[in-house]
Amino acid sequence: MTVQNRPQKEYDLVIVGSGIAGLSFALKVAEAGYRVAIFTKKTKAESNTNYAQGGIAVVTSAGDDLDKHVQDTLEAGDGLCDAKVVREILQDGPERVQDLIRMGVEFSSLEDGRISLGKEGGHSKRRVLHVKDITGKAIEDALLANIAAKGVDLFEHFFAIDLITAKKLNKLGMGESKSDRVEGLYFFDAEANEVITVTASAVLLATGGAGQTYLYTTNPSIATADGIAMASRAGLSVMNLEFIQFHPTTLHSLQGDRFLITEAVRGEGAKLIDAHGKPFLKKYHPLADLAPRDVVARAIDREMKRSGASCVRLDTPNMKVDFKDRFPNVYENCMKRGIDPTKTPIPVVPAAHYSCGGVPTSLDCSTKLAGLYACGEVACTGLHGANRLASNSLLEAVVMAHRGAESVCKYLAGQKKRSVCLPEWVDGDVPASDERVVLSHNLEELKRAMWDYVGIVRSTKRLERAHARLRNLRREINEYYWNAKVDVPLLELRNLVCVAELIVLSALQRKESRGLHFTIDYPDQTAKLKNTRVAPRT
Ligand code: FAD
Ligand code: SIN
Repeated sequence: MTVQNRPQKEYDLVIVGSGIAGLSFALKVAEAGYRVAIFTKKTKAESNTNYAQGGIAVVTSAGDDLDKHVQDTLEAGDGLCDAKVVREILQDGPERVQDLIRMGVEFSSLEDGRISLGKEGGHSKRRVLHVKDITGKAIEDALLANIAAKGVDLFEHFFAIDLITAKKLNKLGMGESKSDRVEGLYFFDAEANEVITVTASAVLLATGGAGQTYLYTTNPSIATADGIAMASRAGLSVMNLEFIQFHPTTLHSLQGDRFLITEAVRGEGAKLIDAHGKPFLKKYHPLADLAPRDVVARAIDREMKRSGASCVRLDTPNMKVDFKDRFPNVYENCMKRGIDPTKTPIPVVPAAHYSCGGVPTSLDCSTKLAGLYACGEVACTGLHGANRLASNSLLEAVVMAHRGAESVCKYLAGQKKRSVCLPEWVDGDVPASDERVVLSHNLEELKRAMWDYVGIVRSTKRLERAHARLRNLRREINEYYWNAKVDVPLLELRNLVCVAELIVLSALQRKESRGLHFTIDYPDQTAKLKNTRVAPRT
């Protein structure tokens, strides 16, 4: 056994994650004079945020209003959004977008100088502000530039392993608080190859989504649901995790990577066509190609199963914009793969994209554990219900970060200086390289099981099959984890199997089809609305 005894880093607020949620939150709390640190597991820009294409949905034009945006969000959410939360978050949108503009985000504009508004599925109006099709990168760059000037410590290649809570300390006879609260965290420093302990009065989970639980996803490799797993292990229930959003249009590639073709392409007139070159969405929804995402993804799945084709196609001849100018990122990535989207219909398939559920929070990002906050895709506020409206995610993150920062400052003002010295990490004996092959097989099996049995169309039998496999995998991985010297792939695998099982348990709880959860065994909706909750895992 190796025990490291080194001086412990100490902060008022530790933020895990450097996407839009973590960076926006950090800026506001640092402005109030608190000691803030961001720890992020790869390089600082690597996040889902960095890949966002379509934009940020917010009411800015004269023909639009808050009620319409609220209504579209509620409809997409298929009855399960919290209407109060929806209104409160959406109404703050315009002010928060002004903050982004002040920080240097230059949203695309029309020739006459007015802001250019995109349209996406489920929106009754054009209201999506964008920077061509690289909106996420523009936001990430601007936030990082501002962070650099604010005195926030930013640590790259530090992987958050677990929260240290008062309850855990009490068990070790080291606690000073009777009620449970956050005391700090363990981080794996991937460059030094060791674990450090960090003391914090408050912690924000801003770790993003869970796309990597599936074989095919739009999400980058960081999206391994670490924050959800950490919160669950710290004693919190998770909410509505069955609602995994599949984006309808990702570039079909035999290599397995799934480059996103933004929905905004359909907003400018592109149409999905079947194996015979015929548009088919009208059969499924009056909004046809611009129906909410759950409807379009299911329709594609149905068409592919019916025809036996490996993809459908996105046809672009009637577009009202110059494709190359409006969608330079999509254009370049299609061309790289040998497809000229202005001449050939783009082969597309759905892929796992967004987690609508997560760690339940109040409207100030607080969770049920004192001192623990969650913001962005890791959190479940009630905004998205059973299916997120396009481009409401960046909006939610930036609005909630503002609200959460105000709340955390009040919490920190009420905290006394802590005297407790947190326990150091104790490593296992098994070198991480041992049984590496078994671990990568476990990862493949997990992702394959989620893709095959917990996808767009589900059944109780398939979910139970997935559950049986995941339960075994979890036992095997945990057994290895407790004896091994940790490294990033092992830590990610442990979190992925934890959250994959939480997704399946949530799906098994929902005995109806609603939004993104469609099961052939319960095709109708129940009259009684409910959010699913799955108890903490150890
Ligand atoms: P992220 O941006 O994913 O950031 C998470 C951060 O946490 C990363 O820095 C990561 O490295 C870090 N992290 C994770 N785990 C750990 C750990 N254990 N230790 C340390 N650090 C950790 N939404 C929209 O509203 N509009 C769009 O146009 C849009 N387009 C999208 C396109 C793509 C391809 C994708 C994948 C998503 C898109 N989304 C869009 C969704 C949106 O981008 C995300 O929901 C949003 O960016 C999430 O922000 P976040 O800050 O919560 O998480
Ligand atoms: C897209 O650009 O199609 C993705 C938008 C989103 O996920 O909100």
